Amino acid sequence: MSFTVAIDGPAAAGKGTISKAVAAHFGFAHLDTGLLYRAVGAQTLDGLDAIKAAKSLTPEALARSDLRTPAVAQAASKVAVVAEVRAALVDFQRAFARRAGGAVLDGRDIGTVICPDAEAKLFITASAEVRAERRYLELADKGQDVTRAQVLKDVKERDARDAERATAPMKAADDAVVLDTSTLSINDAVAQALALIEQRK
Ligand code: C5P
Repeated sequence: MSFTVAIDGPAAAGKGTISKAVAAHFGFAHLDTGLLYRAVGAQTLDGLDAIKAAKSLTPEALARSDLRTPAVAQAASKVAVVAEVRAALVDFQRAFARRAGGAVLDGRDIGTVICPDAEAKLFITASAEVRAERRYLELADKGQDVTRAQVLKDVKERDARDAERATAPMKAADDAVVLDTSTLSINDAVAQALALIEQRK
C-alpha cells in the first residue's frame, strides 16, 4: 500500500532536513523534487534548451556536483516557470509518490499539483531573514564565496518568482498543515512534523 507525504515550502525553511528525517523514521523513499529543476537549470547554464533538458533528464544530470550552487538555484527557479518543463517532470514524480512502502516528496507544488491526494501534507516555512541566514551558513560551510546580503536577496528573488508564477505557484494546499520553523530547533521541527504525520497514519 502506498502512503504519500507532501512537503512544500520556500528555500531553506527546513524541508530537506525534515523530509529526510521523516523518510528515515517511517522507512519511506524520499524525492527532493528541487533537484529535478536544478538539474534542468544547470543544463540551461551550459546552453541547452530547458524543455529539451527536462524531457531527457538522465541520472548523470541529476548527479552533477554543482547543483547546490546559488547560480544553479536561480537557473532552476527560472526554468520552473516554464509550463512545458513542469509537465515533463510530472509523471516521474507521481510514479515515485505511488511506490509501495511509502514516499516523501519535497518541493513547491507537491500538495497542490503533483500529489493532491497525499495522505499527509506539510507546508514548512520561516521568515526570509532566518532562511537566508541558514542558507548563508550552509554555503559558507561548503567554502562558497557568498555574502549574507547576496543570499538574502537571492532567497527573496526566488520566493517571489516561485510564488508569483502562473503554473503551479508555491503555496500551501488548503489541507496542508503549516509549520513555521523560524524559532524552532531542527530537533523540534522534526518532532512536530513526525507527530503531524503520525496522526494521519
Ligand atoms: O528546493 P530547491 O531550492 O532545490 O528548488 C530549486 C527551485 O526549483 C525552486 O526555487 C523552484 O523554482 C523550483 N521547484 C519547483 N517545484 C518543485 C521543486 C522546486 O518549482 N516541486
